[in-house]
Amino acid sequence: MAIPEKLTGWSLLVLVCLSLELLLEAGAGNIRYSVPEETDKGSFVGSIAKDLGLETRELMERGIRIVSRGRSQLFSLNPRSGSLVTAGRIDREELCAQSTPCVVSFNILMEDEMKLLPIEVEIIDINDNTPQFQLEELELKMSEITTPGTRIPLPLGQDLDVGINSLQSYQLSANPHFSLDVQQGPEGPQQPEMVLQRPLDREKDAVHYLVLTASDGGSPIHSGTLQIHVQVVDVNDNPPAFTKAEYHVSVPENVPLGTRLLKVNATDPDEGANGRVTYSFHKVDHSVVRKFQLDAYTGELSNKEPLDFEEYKVYPMEIQAQDGAGLMARAKVLVTVLDVNDNAPEVGITSVTNTVPENFPPGTTIALISVHDQDADNNGHITCSIPGNLPFKLEKLVDNYYRLVTERTLDREQSSRHNITITATDQGTPPLSTQAHISLLVTDINDNPPVFEQDSYSVYIPENNPRGASIFSVKAQDADHNENALVTYALVEDTIQGVPLSSYFSINSDTGVVYALQSFDYEQFRDLQLRVMAHDSGNPQLSSNVSLSLFMIDQNDNAPEILYPVLPTDGSTGVELAPRSAEPGYLVTKVVAVDKDSGQNSWLSYRLLKASEPGLFSVGLHTGEVRTARALLERDALKQSLVVAVQDHGQPPLSTTVTFTIAVADSIPDLLADLGSMGTPADPQDSDLTLYLVVAVAVVSCIFLAFVIVLLVLKLRHWYSSRLLQTEANGLTGLPASNFVGVDGVHAFLQTYSREISLTADSRKSHLIFPQPNYADTLISHESCEKQEFLSAPQSLLEDKEEIFSQVNL
Ligand SMILES: *[C@@H]1O[C@H](CO)[C@@H](O)[C@H](O)[C@H]1NC(C)=O
Ligand SMILES: *[C@@H]1O[C@H](CO)[C@@H](O)[C@H](O)[C@H]1NC(C)=O
Ligand SMILES: *[C@@H]1O[C@H](CO)[C@@H](O)[C@H](O)[C@H]1NC(C)=O
Repeated sequence: MAIPEKLTGWSLLVLVCLSLELLLEAGAGNIRYSVPEETDKGSFVGSIAKDLGLETRELMERGIRIVSRGRSQLFSLNPRSGSLVTAGRIDREELCAQSTPCVVSFNILMEDEMKLLPIEVEIIDINDNTPQFQLEELELKMSEITTPGTRIPLPLGQDLDVGINSLQSYQLSANPHFSLDVQQGPEGPQQPEMVLQRPLDREKDAVHYLVLTASDGGSPIHSGTLQIHVQVVDVNDNPPAFTKAEYHVSVPENVPLGTRLLKVNATDPDEGANGRVTYSFHKVDHSVVRKFQLDAYTGELSNKEPLDFEEYKVYPMEIQAQDGAGLMARAKVLVTVLDVNDNAPEVGITSVTNTVPENFPPGTTIALISVHDQDADNNGHITCSIPGNLPFKLEKLVDNYYRLVTERTLDREQSSRHNITITATDQGTPPLSTQAHISLLVTDINDNPPVFEQDSYSVYIPENNPRGASIFSVKAQDADHNENALVTYALVEDTIQGVPLSSYFSINSDTGVVYALQSFDYEQFRDLQLRVMAHDSGNPQLSSNVSLSLFMIDQNDNAPEILYPVLPTDGSTGVELAPRSAEPGYLVTKVVAVDKDSGQNSWLSYRLLKASEPGLFSVGLHTGEVRTARALLERDALKQSLVVAVQDHGQPPLSTTVTFTIAVADSIPDLLADLGSMGTPADPQDSDLTLYLVVAVAVVSCIFLAFVIVLLVLKLRHWYSSRLLQTEANGLTGLPASNFVGVDGVHAFLQTYSREISLTADSRKSHLIFPQPNYADTLISHESCEKQEFLSAPQSLLEDKEEIFSQVNL
């Protein structure tokens, strides 16, 4: 740099003194040059030779040179051109600082003449310095409430150049808040000042950046700048402001404790404490204070106690925001609590009947029920129901009341106790429900008669039962309760063959056990009908009856009864006839017997027990036919005595014997003679009897003759007509011809026949039926008693009896 800034006042003073001395010495005729500063070395300053009027070569010859005191030479002489040139760069500002003009004086010594020539060179300023500020940046602080018009002095700029090249003007960058005012002094601008034009607002612009420019008047113009930062200092000029005037929030009532419900936000544009906002409740109900918590710093509102829609639906509150300096704002907050289905319906039983008789008509009111739900809308909308399988229904009344009524008549026998569950359900999601139970006791009414276990009873008892034996027991159940179900038994009054039933039977009225008061005879009663009645003890009394069929079971209590041959009343044995010419196997007679018992007890077998001539006669085991076993011989006695035993098959068997005589003769006259001889009168009545017998035989012979004729006619007819008539002819045709040959056969037949006639004619008849081939040895007698039912007894029943018989026999 050409201008040494360390140019001191002292050297300036030296320069001035030197110049003055030169002037004094040289007097008039001074040589004066001027040269601009900052020219290159050797720049031409002035032509010394010419100004001294000398030739260029004379300069050398005359020893002309520059003399100066103790300082470096600024100039030198160019001996060739005889001109004064610069010896180096010259900085005016170093030499002269701000003084003007800047003149350098020195002398030129002419050695030959010893003469000093004063020379003055004026250094001319050029604009080689830029205006400058001491600082590059200026920081200013201004309160935002600084009043417009306030002046702020700014630092001065400096330009080392002089004159027009020195600092000439200041400019401030454009800014709406600030302007520049510069006081003009005599030597250009003096003091730049910044004037506040408009109020500052930190909140709008916290810092203003300005640039102050100082310019000189040179050409070209040089300028220097100063950065000015104006920091606006905050003043609490803004109250907090809420982001909204009102805050609304809806929260479900079951929100967990401490949930952040809402955040209020008030902003304060001020700085620091002026802008630090705290929140608080302003004007609130005590319930709000109890339920909610407001964070003073964050503005967060949370619940510190459970919310309950059923308690408060809306919480209005006012929140205040305050900054550090006490400015405040308020906002309204509305917390709306939303209903959640958190309340189950309540079921109240207003009135209830706990017992009801079973005969009450449908529609009887059992209970009055009220339901209630604290929740709102659907959450509180209740429907009530009972299980569908019960004989009850719910009727809705006004105001959430229900009536439980019977839907149909109750039946205690079906269900004596009803446990009715009433379910009340709301329509929330999920729905909540509550149950209530009503226990209803159905009391009994005597509406069920006793019922016997069977529709009818059949009882089989062996005959000859002991008197007073219990023979059977009936049981009837009554579905009712207590005395309505207490059954007593009785026999329905009736008569059996004119005798009151009560003399045959009795019944235990409590147990239903039937007793036989008499011993029954199968041969007298085969079966009996009685009715048992069961009553309950209700009011009115109900009853039912059942029929009891008693069937007697036969026991072998009757011995076989011989029907033929009939013993004569005189105590002698009967007589049968056999012709002497009879072939072996000739049927002499037939023992006929019956047994009043039935079944096996009446199966009969015949045995020859004793014979006067053993081996002459044989008896058919099953038929009872007495036949000759061999031909009769002369030596065989005229009278043969036989004892035949008839035995049934009962357990134990019973038997009867019959004794009779067989007379052996050649012809009827013989026979008669024989009979006469036989009839040795043991007592006087015997001859009479024989006489009657002879007369009777004669009569019978006549009748027989007529009968034979009729028989012949019938035989002929039969021969011509079909065999169907065989049955009509009854057993007669079936009789072997041998029966009718000879008087003995006739006799035998007539015996049989007359017996049959007499039996059929009897009122208590025994109907004789000749056995079918398989029962050839048995005579079955059916007692045709007055009771028609016996005859019409179903075949199955008879078969049953047969089974029982066989069991009995086993
Ligand atoms: C408050 O609101 C302002 C402007 O909406 C936002 O910039 C600021 O972050 C909010 N403050 C809080 C604490 O939410
Ligand atoms: C009715 O039934 C409910 C459930 O089925 C039971 O909890 C209650 O004890 C019953 N009440 C009576 C009296 O039986
Ligand atoms: C027995 O019951 C029948 C119907 O079951 C009834 O008709 C009859 O009258 C009753 N007899 C008596 C004696 O009650």
